[in-house]
Amino acid sequence: MPELALLGGPPVRSRPYPPWPQATQADRVRLLEVLESGNWGGYPFPNRLAAEVAERFAALHGARYGCLVANGTIALVAALQAAGIRFGDEVIVPAYTWEGTAAAVLAAGAVPIFADIDPDTYCLDPEAARRAITSRTRALLPVHLAMRFADMDALVELAVSQDLILIEDCAHAHGGQYKGRGAGSMGDMGCFSFQSSKLMTAGEGGAVITSRLEYYELLQSLVNCGRASLTDCFRRRVVGWNYRITEFQAAILMGQLERLGELSERRAQNAAKLTRLLQGIEGIRTLPPQPAVTREAIYGYVFQYRPPDERVSRDLFVAALEAEGVPCDGRFYEAVYRSDLFPARSEDFPQLAVGRERPLDYRDFHCPVAERAAYREAVWLPQFVLLGEEDDVEDIARAAAKVVENRDELAAAGEEYAGLKALSRAERPRLERHRNY
Ligand SMILES: Cc1ncc(COP(=O)(O)O)c(C=O)c1O
Repeated sequence: MPELALLGGPPVRSRPYPPWPQATQADRVRLLEVLESGNWGGYPFPNRLAAEVAERFAALHGARYGCLVANGTIALVAALQAAGIRFGDEVIVPAYTWEGTAAAVLAAGAVPIFADIDPDTYCLDPEAARRAITSRTRALLPVHLAMRFADMDALVELAVSQDLILIEDCAHAHGGQYKGRGAGSMGDMGCFSFQSSKLMTAGEGGAVITSRLEYYELLQSLVNCGRASLTDCFRRRVVGWNYRITEFQAAILMGQLERLGELSERRAQNAAKLTRLLQGIEGIRTLPPQPAVTREAIYGYVFQYRPPDERVSRDLFVAALEAEGVPCDGRFYEAVYRSDLFPARSEDFPQLAVGRERPLDYRDFHCPVAERAAYREAVWLPQFVLLGEEDDVEDIARAAAKVVENRDELAAAGEEYAGLKALSRAERPRLERHRNY
């Protein structure tokens, strides 16, 4: 009889982890109020609940202004547009992130340039960013990834010294703080996503925060079909689009905002326990602590798979861990320039040819740390596994230890079991309809 659940043995756990998202009675009441009010949309802009949530959300992160939008990708596009990023400008993004970070740069007419990540945080490495700067670079777009912050001291310094716009992708960092400063408040603008898997969600949605009135006014015009903002001190007229959020989403976000602190605290406590438990397991490295993080935002609990030999790949390890009853993923993100979710070519995006002898070809990029994380090392656990009790976390460590202890059995069974976990990510949705993270 095999030991491992992947090979037919009994799993460590068959109970589900807490559900995500979670609805409360207050959500039901607010939704019904919107329904019955007849005021459903994003117009008049900003609408009542959307304005209130935006203001509170910005204040939570220490920014003066907030603007809710349709989703996190659009938040990034609008921020880039408000910052004056133009056709052919280069924007430096981390090589390891959700493809949407880079796709937003393309959508704004600019050119994403990938720079490698820090091996201990998986966030943009400031030195790699510095090396990627050219005369066409206009902005830095770091991502606060999973459970860590990009090195904002170094990145702010770099942006100021090189006269670059700094936009923070905070899709994973709701409520987080770096040296007491809120995510999204350290650069020119911060962009958030409220997609289903996120720490605050309305199913879909996004937000941009900033402390500069000029950006705020431009954002409002861009989001609301070019109409002037209510303050309109700068009187800038731009072509805009409808990037607005609905009042239904804003109603949900109000409740999410109210619960964020309590849930983040619970995740942080469970994450600390999980780190302690995983530290004793051979072949598993937890991310080193990041003292600059003064309030944690844990979108994904990430650890590193570093086995003593090559017999069991990361994808096979992850498949075995998931079979033990722990939701997890290895190829959650890729080195974006290699991802089949990012087939960016100059035929489709002419900005990739601007000012170059031959168009930028993403196959020429090579970021070894990002590639190691994406294809060999990173193991991602979704945030909701940290919303339960202590024994829920103990199960994760127990399952990881069991897989490691039975490495011989796993190695003998072979790689075919890595299956779904190693599949092309563009192909996955057909197989993953059941899941929303
Ligand atoms: C790092 C990162 N940036 C941007 C986005 C885009 O957000 P959305 O899915 O709301 O468009 C996401 C969300 O998936 C993300 O994880």
